Amino acid sequence: MQKLLYLTDSYRKKLETEIQKIVRKGSVWHIFLKDTIIYPEGGGQPSDLGIINGKTGKARVLKAIFTSEGVLHECQVEGVIKAGDRVTIYLDWKRRYLNMRLHSAGHILHEAVATLFPQLVPVSANHSENNTLIRYRGEIPIGKAGEIERIANGIVDSNVSITSAFVTYDQLVQQASFVPVHLPKNKPLRIIQVQGFQPIPDGGTQVALTGETGLISIPKIVNHDGLVDVYYSIEKQTTAVIPDILEASPYSVSDLTAELIQIQTETIDQINNIDLPDFELRQKALGQTSRFSNLAKKIRDIPQKERSQAGIIINEVKNAIETALSHKFTRKHKSQGFFDPTLPGIKPKLGHLHIVSQAIEEITRTFERIGFTRVRHPEADWDYYAFEALNMPPNHPARDEWETFFLSYPGENKKDLTKKMVLTPHTSNGQVREMEKGIFPIKMINIAKCYRRQSDVSHASMFHQFEGLYIDKNVSIAHLKGVIEYFVKSFYGQDRQIRLRPFHFQFTEPSFEIDVTCGICHGQGVRADNEPCRLCKSGWLELGGAGMTHPNVLKAGHVDTSIYNGFAFGWGVERTYMMKSSTNLDDVRILYQNDIRFLEQF
Ligand code: DAH
Repeated sequence: MQKLLYLTDSYRKKLETEIQKIVRKGSVWHIFLKDTIIYPEGGGQPSDLGIINGKTGKARVLKAIFTSEGVLHECQVEGVIKAGDRVTIYLDWKRRYLNMRLHSAGHILHEAVATLFPQLVPVSANHSENNTLIRYRGEIPIGKAGEIERIANGIVDSNVSITSAFVTYDQLVQQASFVPVHLPKNKPLRIIQVQGFQPIPDGGTQVALTGETGLISIPKIVNHDGLVDVYYSIEKQTTAVIPDILEASPYSVSDLTAELIQIQTETIDQINNIDLPDFELRQKALGQTSRFSNLAKKIRDIPQKERSQAGIIINEVKNAIETALSHKFTRKHKSQGFFDPTLPGIKPKLGHLHIVSQAIEEITRTFERIGFTRVRHPEADWDYYAFEALNMPPNHPARDEWETFFLSYPGENKKDLTKKMVLTPHTSNGQVREMEKGIFPIKMINIAKCYRRQSDVSHASMFHQFEGLYIDKNVSIAHLKGVIEYFVKSFYGQDRQIRLRPFHFQFTEPSFEIDVTCGICHGQGVRADNEPCRLCKSGWLELGGAGMTHPNVLKAGHVDTSIYNGFAFGWGVERTYMMKSSTNLDDVRILYQNDIRFLEQF
């Protein structure tokens, strides 16, 4: 016995079954399946559509009808499908769900009509999307549409269940509120029941809850020839929850793959066996009207979430065909002794410095011009140079600013806090190390890698800083300002302004943060069209910290504070450079992922 699963599980969208019989009728094929989920037209509900997928072919269901042999699927077939094949049916669920909702809405409407006019006898119904109506013998007085709608929508709103049961003819007569004039003879008999009402004979597909239909409206009621037609429609969208969320896909990646593989084999066969000029052969294999290109277009029919996978497979097949073409060409040209001297040669790939290396170069050159020398200090250093010498004794709360990686090392005495080792969290460790050299004046620029325990879109755990330090006699804030202004104008452009904002660092006093006018909105904070600038905060971009070196730091570096003083600044290389190109990276970590497509741009 063929299982008609649409009757028992109207939410089923996919079924694995077997072809029982397939016969050709002109341009279409008639297919009978062991079991089916495809609803054959009847009872006012239109036929389902869908796809029957086999290993070697596939059938598109154009229509289904109920026959003495069961459901007949009228199909268009591509490839080969034969009796005995295991197949998967995919239902066109969008269409079915709309039909289900329309059908159930018809029953709800009937309950409303029957409540007000119990004497009316149902004659027929049409639940297809166009011309949806129920026909009764009898008459409905003018002006009743609103009242019927209200009762029907009361049932919709109460979101009660619609259930079904198979019955014998006797049970049907006993239980149903009416017996249709034409009861189908060859189909199983079934009744459905809107909760709270009497059962009605029905062989269609129904939603599980009345709320799923959405609100029902009655555009017109027409009395004619002793009959009355109650037209109705439903909301296209409904917020009711669909019990089964799995939407069947009519065309999936596996379908596409099967077709692609077949085309790949056939195309490669053709390439190897047909003699055509190179260009024509290529056109035939991969040109716009080739079978491959036509199939590749079907990617549109594939559900969104599977598309990238489909893209990969399409590419693989394309590459395989390309390879076959080029092998064929090489073979052919070799045998003909062909050599094309006009072909362009192969250019070697040229590399260039990484964007951060370029930035370091440029920063170094810029400071060099005013007498600052680039120096290098350890990137794994004693805690002493990274913190303590910078006026931050062990356990000083200011240390929290730097989320530091500590290193263990052979012979380490874990109890001795003064002998801890760190991956430098900033380049300021170079300050006291430079002072310890004892050569004055100091004009250093220390550029190095820094490490912090951070990783998000605006922070990488490894990044770069450059640290400036100037120690001399009678150094003032004016010098600090002058050096920074010089750097900003040479690096970013003469039109840029700077400002010093008071701040706090343990190793400088006074301390500042340096801001630069934004290069996009020229310090206005708004664009030409008066929208707020998207790069900056009210016209200013934050560059980094600076300040006059704290006496405790000078003392740690054994600098005679009665003769010398100075200033320092420390900024991030990546940030400084990004501000120059106005590149707003969504994720700075991309700088270190070695993705050539990104790096090539700089
Ligand atoms: N080292 C600080 C940091 O990483 C930046 C800094 C601020 C360096 C002020 C300085 C300075 O030399 O004077 O946040």
